[in-house]
Amino acid sequence: MSSIITTNKLSKSFKTDNREIEVLKNLDIEIYEGDFTIIMGASGAGKSTLLYSLSGMDKPTSGSIIFNDKDITKLSVDNLAMFRRKNCGFVFQQNYLIDSMSIIDNILVSGLLVNKNKKKVIENAKNILSKIGINESLWHKFPTQISGGEAQRVGIARALTNNPKLLFADEPTGALNSKTGKEVLDTLTEFNNNGQSIVMVTHDIKSARRGNRIIYLKDGEVAGILDLGKYIPDDKKRHEKLSEFLVSMGW
Ligand SMILES: Nc1ncnc2c1ncn2[C@@H]1O[C@H](COP(=O)(O)OP(=O)(O)OP(=O)(O)O)[C@@H](O)[C@H]1O
Ligand SMILES: [Mg+2]
Repeated sequence: MSSIITTNKLSKSFKTDNREIEVLKNLDIEIYEGDFTIIMGASGAGKSTLLYSLSGMDKPTSGSIIFNDKDITKLSVDNLAMFRRKNCGFVFQQNYLIDSMSIIDNILVSGLLVNKNKKKVIENAKNILSKIGINESLWHKFPTQISGGEAQRVGIARALTNNPKLLFADEPTGALNSKTGKEVLDTLTEFNNNGQSIVMVTHDIKSARRGNRIIYLKDGEVAGILDLGKYIPDDKKRHEKLSEFLVSMGW
């Protein structure tokens, strides 16, 4: 299996009030193509910080991040931004859609940052919205006129519109009820089954089940990794294997 990301002694510290806290400590991590990788760990373990470093949203303090054979820690700010737009999609707990723009315009804005061919960008946007189950009747509505689950799916469509190598998600169902949360997870699972590589941070065991590989962080270090195999709904053995792993991690 080929790696998309390999980190080497990745470290990140923050300075506050003359004090330095080391949040990520010499991490050597691999993210593989086609995987649905899950990052778990207690609050404050460094999960979001790791996601931001891996995706080039934040610069690590030291160490390297080889993303598709390129050390992205060596890129200038502008080149890193372009690299990120082309290769990474992001989904957060809040959807961060622009309220003054229609659903379709929200997607087009992301597309036009990368691709100058407007016709193609519009075609991509319509394609991805249809694939994600956002019906044409919603395309010209505004984010406040659709449900939370729909808005989160639009957020995923926006993240996928430039066909990223990796989709990063930080607690994407954290603000949703269990029914709409399940719909969002089903969407992610479907894209992963069609080859989309995903890295998702979660607190929630139901979300974690969707992954095939779980990386557990403790105080900025990898405490354990579980290879779980692809998601199979209602596979009790697989669910138990994950539960046992999490218990062994002190979750
Ligand atoms: N910009 C920052 N400045 C200072 N400290 C920070 C900053 N960002 C994160 N931290 C600290 O780094 C640690 C890890 O934060 P991080 O957000 O990565 O945790 P997390 O595992 O995502 O937690 P949660 O599950 O609560 O989202 C925390 O102690 C946090 O206070
Ligand atoms: Mg977090």
